[in-house]
Amino acid sequence: MQRLLIDTDPGVDDAQAILMAAAHPDAKIEALFAVGGNVGLDRTVRNALTIVEVIEQEIPVYAGCDKPLIGFQEDAAVVHGDDGLGNSGRVPKVRQVEKTHAVNALIEMVNAEPNEFTLVTLGPLTNIAVALKLDPDLPNKIKRTVVMGGAVTGKGNVSNLSAEFNIYHDPEAAYVVFEAWARAGQMIELYDWEATVRHAISGDTIDEWAKIDNPRAKFFGEVSAFTLKWVRESLGENALFGADPQAMAVVLEPTIVTRSEDHYLVVATDGAYTRGLTVVDWSDRSNQPINARIVLAIDRSRYERLMYNSIM
Ligand code: BDR
Ligand code: CA
Repeated sequence: MQRLLIDTDPGVDDAQAILMAAAHPDAKIEALFAVGGNVGLDRTVRNALTIVEVIEQEIPVYAGCDKPLIGFQEDAAVVHGDDGLGNSGRVPKVRQVEKTHAVNALIEMVNAEPNEFTLVTLGPLTNIAVALKLDPDLPNKIKRTVVMGGAVTGKGNVSNLSAEFNIYHDPEAAYVVFEAWARAGQMIELYDWEATVRHAISGDTIDEWAKIDNPRAKFFGEVSAFTLKWVRESLGENALFGADPQAMAVVLEPTIVTRSEDHYLVVATDGAYTRGLTVVDWSDRSNQPINARIVLAIDRSRYERLMYNSIM
């Protein structure tokens, strides 16, 4: 049984990923740490609570950092809706956020049971970077770390062209995290945007799933409709790019990965076109410690099955 700590900025695809984890027989979600990203922290916290109610599990939700370490960064409301859940209007009915800050909760949980937890990050890395400042030995106490983020050959999805949203939202935090894992001799399993695009699910399949009549499928359909419409109209594609659920599939079933490479990865923090770029030492020339297992391909039908099973 994998014990999951999920750092997240829900977010339509964050919601899909959490549904998937909640339904998996070999995983237990132990905490959700909310971070500002796709929308502001007020809404990512609210959405995390809503998701916990939909999946009907007793999972504590902690509020983390609202803003990136430095400056201000645009959100992704255009993709996820102003409420972050596809303008579905869903709000939690009874669940409340915990009083402890997410960063403190993460440190407490990991120190109480070192090497027990899998850390999954589905949003900007602000909470994890702050946690590292308080507990620099953190990478050595986490059993497994899986990050959704980056665009490993520079085919990004934000305005500067080369970066991916989660990393671009807080490049300094991402730099701190990848460097900390490198110096500790630990690996981050990375699921990037370019792999996401290669494993999109057809929009027609999503439309079919939305017709399933149970509370989880209804929620899935409601929150996914907005993003799917945006992809169809703005990108001219009939597909759902499930970055976070694809990363979660790797978390839940590591053997779903059919191709990956291990290299040193560093995050660029400067340059109009390069801020937030994930730079990979593909030929291992830098003599830097290898810190990233970059997932390049997964078994797509197995991923689709995992997603489908979570709303059945
Ligand atoms: C990532 O950015 C967010 O908009 C999504 O939730 C996902 O985590 C994809 O680039
Ligand atoms: Ca996300």
